[in-house]
Amino acid sequence: MSQPKQNNEVSKIVRWLRYLERHPFTPMFGVNFINFLRQSGDLERRFIKDPLRSIPELAGRISRGEQLRYGSESRSNQIIADALLLGIEYAASASVAGDVAEFGTMKGRTAQVLAAAMAAFRHKGRLHLFDSFEGLPESPSDRDRTSYHVQEGAWSEGACQGIGPKALRIKCKKFLPEDNIIIHQGWYSETVKKVADTISFGLVHVDCDLYQSTIEALDPLFARGMISEGALILFDDWNCNRSSRERGERRAWIECCEKHRIDYSDGGDYSWGGHKFIVHDYKSLEKDT
Ligand SMILES: C[S@@+](CC[C@H](N)C(=O)[O-])C[C@H]1O[C@@H](n2cnc3c(N)ncnc32)[C@H](O)[C@@H]1O
Repeated sequence: MSQPKQNNEVSKIVRWLRYLERHPFTPMFGVNFINFLRQSGDLERRFIKDPLRSIPELAGRISRGEQLRYGSESRSNQIIADALLLGIEYAASASVAGDVAEFGTMKGRTAQVLAAAMAAFRHKGRLHLFDSFEGLPESPSDRDRTSYHVQEGAWSEGACQGIGPKALRIKCKKFLPEDNIIIHQGWYSETVKKVADTISFGLVHVDCDLYQSTIEALDPLFARGMISEGALILFDDWNCNRSSRERGERRAWIECCEKHRIDYSDGGDYSWGGHKFIVHDYKSLEKDT
């Protein structure tokens, strides 16, 4: 069945706007111009006519620029940024040893928050950023294949591709010395095992959506004893997939806890989708044998 003509037109305009957003001349036009274009044809209503902006208690919570750029989504972004900031403050203030890791960098939004927070709280560790820079992989796991988001196409192969490693480094360099930013380019199944097990992590931000990716990120770190006592693990996509225990980051954490007998405190939800834990102890397969 052929797609209605109007849909094709809309997707052409969306593609054009995406291109324009990344174009080097875009700053000359500014975000407002882009959003003006977006509004035409009622393409992405929420960017300008965000209903939340009409509620006085909520309108001032996010800067105007943020709200124009991301609409109501910027409220979630703000809460996620707060959780990461608090996490870095916790790690620095509670003497949690080790570096900071992020799995899933995309456009560097949360990596930048981590970098700025590390600078603000004089965190002594380095920031490790792990990403394929090719977007999501096609997962070999049925747990991902049956994921609602994979089936809807939101988490399909190549989705969520963001900026490249160079641009990511430039974003984070604004806050941290370059030597303290370590970018691990490639699939987690390859990159994580290459990190020396003399390195430990005191905060891990998991934002890689899929069950299989989360297992590939976390399992080797626990197996090799690289998670510090008191480490904070934040899962950005915890409540995705209808909060199903059979899918995504939830499933991966359940399996890691069973396999490595992780003793943790549950730090609760943040934003609509995120959840955090503090690791007290666990059995690492390599170090405890
Ligand atoms: C949702 S995005 C991350 C969003 C980012 N934290 C932000 O706030 O802007 C998910 C990222 O995970 C990466 N990713 C997912 N699975 C991966 C894997 N197995 N290996 C490497 N990168 C992966 C994708 O390339 C993508 O950039």
